[in-house]
This record gives sequence, C-alpha cells and structure tokens, in this order.
Amino acid sequence: MILLSNISQRFERPDGGATLALHDVSLEIPRGEFLLLAGTNGSGKSTLLNVLAGVFPPTSGQVQIDGLDVTRHGPERRAVSLARVFQNPYLSTAGTLTVAENMRLAELRGGTRILRLGLNRTAKTRHADALAACGMGLENFLDRPTNTLSGGQRQALAVVMATIVTPKVLLLDEHTAALDPEAAEKVMQLTARLVSEHAITTVMVTHSLDHLPRFGTRAVLLHLGRVQEEWSGAEKSALTSNELQQRFAGLYGG
Ligand SMILES: Nc1ncnc2c1ncn2[C@@H]1O[C@H](COP(=O)(O)OP(=O)(O)OP(=O)(O)O)[C@@H](O)[C@H]1O
Ligand SMILES: [Mg+2]
Repeated sequence: MILLSNISQRFERPDGGATLALHDVSLEIPRGEFLLLAGTNGSGKSTLLNVLAGVFPPTSGQVQIDGLDVTRHGPERRAVSLARVFQNPYLSTAGTLTVAENMRLAELRGGTRILRLGLNRTAKTRHADALAACGMGLENFLDRPTNTLSGGQRQALAVVMATIVTPKVLLLDEHTAALDPEAAEKVMQLTARLVSEHAITTVMVTHSLDHLPRFGTRAVLLHLGRVQEEWSGAEKSALTSNELQQRFAGLYGG
C-alpha cells in the first residue's frame, strides 16, 4: 500500500516567486489498486509521480510504501521495487540495445527470482513468451535494435519490461499519449491486463477522458495541486466524456 500524507511541493521560480505544485495532498492507495490521475495542465500530476518515484523529496509530508517511510529515499533506492513508463517512448527503453538486451536489463532489476528462472528456461524463450503475450509480434524482434521499432511497439515493450519483474509500484505518465489511437488502445489493453494479472499497485496519469470510465479501479481529478474529486466503482464506470469535459470547463472557469 502507498500512503501519501499531507504532501506539499513548492518550486522556487526564477522571478523570486514560488509555485505550489502540490498542496497538502493525502492519498491512500491500497495494494493492487489501479489509480488514474487526471487533471488540468500544471495541476501537479507529474510532480506527484516524481514524489512517488523519489526524484525529489516533497517540501513537506510523508510517503510510505508498504509501511516503510521512503520520503527521503532517492530514485536509485526505490528502483528495486518501482517501475516507471514515460510519455516519450525513447525514455523508457534503450534504443541502441536490442529488444532482448532491454528485456534482460529489465529482468536484472529483480535479481534472484530471475536467476532462479534462468536455471530451467533460456532467457530467449522467456522473453519471447512474455512478448508474444502482447499480441503485437514483438517476439519476432528480439535481435533487432530497439530504435528500429515504432513508438507503439516500443511503448508495449516498455510496459512488458516494467512488469516482467512484478514491481511494488508501477508509475505510468501519459504513456500512450504519443501513440496513434490504435497503438494507444493496444498498449492500454496490454497495460490493463498485466496490471490486473499481477495485481500491481499502479498510478497512471492520463489526459484521455475515455480512460477514466474504462480503466483502473479509481480515478482522481487534480487541479492546482489539490485533489478536487474522485470516482470509483459504478460511479466511475458511468462517467461520460461529456460530463468530464464539463467538469474540466468548470475548473478552468473557476
Ligand atoms: N522541476 C520543476 N521546477 C519548477 N517548477 C516545476 C517543476 N516541475 C513542475 N513545476 C511546476 O509545477 C506545476 C505542476 O507541474 P506538473 O508537471 O506536475 O503538472 P502536470 O499536471 O503534470 O501537467 P501536464 O498535464 O501539463 O503534464 C506547474 O506549474 C509546473 O510549472
Ligand atoms: Mg505532466
């Protein structure tokens, strides 16, 4: 479980002022929850992911993961249990390495479990099986440099890499936003399946309003660094793009 308690994040601006990117945000994210984070531009979504990833410690407040206070732990220390996929396909995979080499690197994050697996199955079969499950033909590209893949193929690879060793926490920052609608849908379906199969505690930032009713177990709307509203269960499933658009228009108006 992730526990964010009274998180505030203040950034000093060059003009001497300051931006309060997060304002006293408290969130409890139970183990296995798939949380969607929506909100206006600059509402603090990426900042919240950065605080979760340990990119910087929050100005105030506490972050706990499975009962452990990780507020002051940096990204390297959290990397063992935390995986992240970015919007830009170039950031989550190494372009000059082959697909198989990227998969191997992803496996090494977990250490012992994979070493054990390695005794009875070759790495290549393991990688091919994991990639075949995406249904995007990636298993045929194992020896290709990753920079010869399309953006959609590369994001699918990034999602498989992020989940190949089940992380305690998966962070997705608009990871389908740069893809065409068909590739975006495939990568979202893949994400939803892997998150649910492995019951991974996941926080996904999205600007796609149709994601809110369709994916995840809870959705939170951020505005000006505060949680404005949240939906789950039947209420979330019943959300329509129209309603959400009006909700956003209201935020900008107010
Ligand atoms: N490293 C930083 N230094 C200074 N200001 C920052 C930094 N990161 C974010 N901010 C500011 O904090 C606020 C929240 O930014 P953040 O990137 O979290 O928004 P966001 O919700 O992810 O927006 P978007 O939807 O555009 O991606 C913005 O006003 C932004 O300019
Ligand atoms: Mg952002």
